[in-house]
Amino acid sequence: MEYVRLNNGTSMPYLGTGTNTYGKENNAYAGDLNGDFSALESAIEMGYRLIDTAISYRNEEGVGKTVKKSGIPREEFYLTTKIPPQEEYTKDKETVRQILDQSLSNLQTDYIDLYLIHKPIEDENRLRAVWEVMEEYVGKGKIKTIGVSNFTEQDLNKLDEFATIKPAVNQIKSNPVEWNNEWIRTMLERDIRPQAWGPMKTTEKQRSVLSEIGEGYGKSWAQVLLRYQTQRGIVVIPKSHDPENQKANLESLDFLLSDEDMKKSLVCKIN
Ligand SMILES: NC(=O)c1ccc[n+]([C@@H]2O[C@H](COP(=O)([O-])OP(=O)(O)OC[C@H]3O[C@@H](n4cnc5c(N)ncnc54)[C@H](OP(=O)(O)O)[C@@H]3O)[C@@H](O)[C@H]2O)c1
Repeated sequence: MEYVRLNNGTSMPYLGTGTNTYGKENNAYAGDLNGDFSALESAIEMGYRLIDTAISYRNEEGVGKTVKKSGIPREEFYLTTKIPPQEEYTKDKETVRQILDQSLSNLQTDYIDLYLIHKPIEDENRLRAVWEVMEEYVGKGKIKTIGVSNFTEQDLNKLDEFATIKPAVNQIKSNPVEWNNEWIRTMLERDIRPQAWGPMKTTEKQRSVLSEIGEGYGKSWAQVLLRYQTQRGIVVIPKSHDPENQKANLESLDFLLSDEDMKKSLVCKIN
């Protein structure tokens, strides 16, 4: 596994697994919980250690149980979860503490590697309450790293006004349909690590451009796409229910794209 160093001196794997449909009927995001975490079991068995969940996925508990059941030492994992922005979760500091404690309990762990604010919180008092409690939990060793998700530059500037700990990560959408490159460049300049959600979204044309590039390396379009992102400093969390795709995604880390192919991958932006 390749690791990237964050602005707080810790490291995170460059590639992890998303989980937003794990443990659910028909592998559907809004499906009823059915306790089927076989996709996560297979990912862990294959070597995935970064696992991305969220309170809004309703599956923290199943993720925690599956991680525990693997028998692999806790410190080998990198667990990420997220607090939703809605008032019910963020109305005051005591509520936020309860939410964070619930995540710790659901994930059956003494600490969470990365805790994110899932989406921008417009109300400045609530944003401040959440961030200050997250900082408090870093101080207590219950969270190692704190960050945000779906934040714009303006959202980050708002946080900067009072944050004593700078966010280490901003998890945003990035894929060939919408790379979000300008924002990614700014984040890298500000030393905030971009992490790409929804990384596999592609058009048929884009897959064909990526497949062509992959031919020279014996790699698929998906592997070229993931390698393109990690090679330019973006952490990826593809999600798959298919063990073959999970394996292929992991194996995107065992080759390097030439400078020319890096440029071509970006060009696959054309639909
Ligand atoms: N912060 C946020 O607001 C936010 C929003 C959305 C998602 N997320 C996180 O990001 C994770 C990833 O995003 P996502 O689940 O929406 O979408 P995704 O990972 O971009 O795409 C998942 C789809 O890609 C397919 N796939 C995966 N690997 C493949 C491969 N090697 N070849 C061909 N197809 C492949 C999967 O099909 P198979 O199952 O058949 O392989 C599945 O249909 C989520 O699970 C969640 O943890 C965060």
